[in-house]
Amino acid sequence: MGRSSLKILVVDDEIEIARSTSDYLSRVGFEPIPTYTAEEAFIEFQNHKPSVCILDIHLPGMSGIDLLKNIMKEEVDTQIIMLTGYGSMENVTEALRAGACDFLQKPINFEILLHSVNKCFDKVDLLRMKEEYKNNLEKEVADKTHQIRAGLYATIRTLGRITRFRDPYTQGHEERVVNLSKAIATKMDYTLEKLQGMEIAAVLHDVGKIAIPAQILVKPSKPTKKERALLEEHVTYSFKIIKDIPFIDIIGMDIAEIVYQHHERIDGKGYPRGLEEEDILDEAKILAVADMVESMSSHRPYRAAIPMNRVLDVIKDQRGVELDVDCVDACLKVLEENDFDIEKIV
Ligand SMILES: [Fe+2]
Repeated sequence: MGRSSLKILVVDDEIEIARSTSDYLSRVGFEPIPTYTAEEAFIEFQNHKPSVCILDIHLPGMSGIDLLKNIMKEEVDTQIIMLTGYGSMENVTEALRAGACDFLQKPINFEILLHSVNKCFDKVDLLRMKEEYKNNLEKEVADKTHQIRAGLYATIRTLGRITRFRDPYTQGHEERVVNLSKAIATKMDYTLEKLQGMEIAAVLHDVGKIAIPAQILVKPSKPTKKERALLEEHVTYSFKIIKDIPFIDIIGMDIAEIVYQHHERIDGKGYPRGLEEEDILDEAKILAVADMVESMSSHRPYRAAIPMNRVLDVIKDQRGVELDVDCVDACLKVLEENDFDIEKIV
C-alpha cells in the first residue's frame, strides 16, 4: 500500500535547525514544511494535515506541548516527534503522555531522526490499513445483513402465500390485517423499525393454519367444540414455525411471541394461555384488534360478512374488556379516516 502523503511538519524557533532538518528530510525523499513558531505551525498543520510532525518543545508563545495537544485534538492519529534541548528531559513525560510517539535530543542526529520518522510512517500506514480493514469489514457486514434480510423477507412472503393457498376463504384477510395493524401502529407512533416488525407479525399471524385439516378451515357450518379446539391450535403451530425461521431475530422484535399472543384478550379469557393485560405484548394487542375487525367484516364459510356499523359496536363494547383501550381508539380513528372501509387502508 502506497503512502498517501510524505509531508512532515517541522517547527523550531532556531531557524537554522528548522532549515537543516528540512533540507535533510528533503534529501531522503520526504516533503518537509519548515515553520518557526507554534502558531504558524498550527496553521500549516490545518492546511496540509501532515501525518508526521517534528516539534521543538521550547517555542516562544504557544509551547510545543500545547501545539502537540492542539494537533492531537484535530487528528488523533498524527505521529509526533518532540525535540528537546540536550540534557533537558523536562516536559518529555508530559509530551509522551499527551500523545507524542518519540522524542529526540538536540543536536539532532539525522540517522536517528530518519529511523524515528520511518517508524512514524510505518505506524501511519498500519493505522490506515486498520481503518481500511475496519471499513471493508463494516461494509461486508452491512452487505451480508442486507442479503439475510432480503432472504428473510422472501421466506416470510412465501409462508404468507402458503397460508393463503391453504385457506382460500381468507383470501385477502392477511393483507387487510397487515394494512390495518400497520395503520393502528402508525397512529400509535411506532417507529419505522417497529412498523416493519408489526408488518411481519401480521403477515405470519395465521401461518400455523397450514397444520389444521383443510376440511375444518373451509367447513360451511359453524365449527364444533372439538373443531374449534383444533382451530385454536393454529397459534401454537404459528409460534413453532416462526421461531424456527433462520435469522428472524434480526428484526429486533419477538415475532413468534407476538403471533403466539394474537388471540389473547386483556380480560384473560383469550387463548392459548389466558394471559392477563400486562403480560400481553403491545403488538399482539394491535394484532388482536385488527384481526377481530377484519374477521368480522369479511365473509366466512359459515356466515356472511358482518356490516361495519355492527363491527364498530362490537369493538366499542370490547374496548377495555377484551381489547386494549388505546388500540381500539387508534383503530376507530384509522377506520374513520378511511370512510369505515378496510379496503381503503393501505
Ligand atoms: Fe388467528
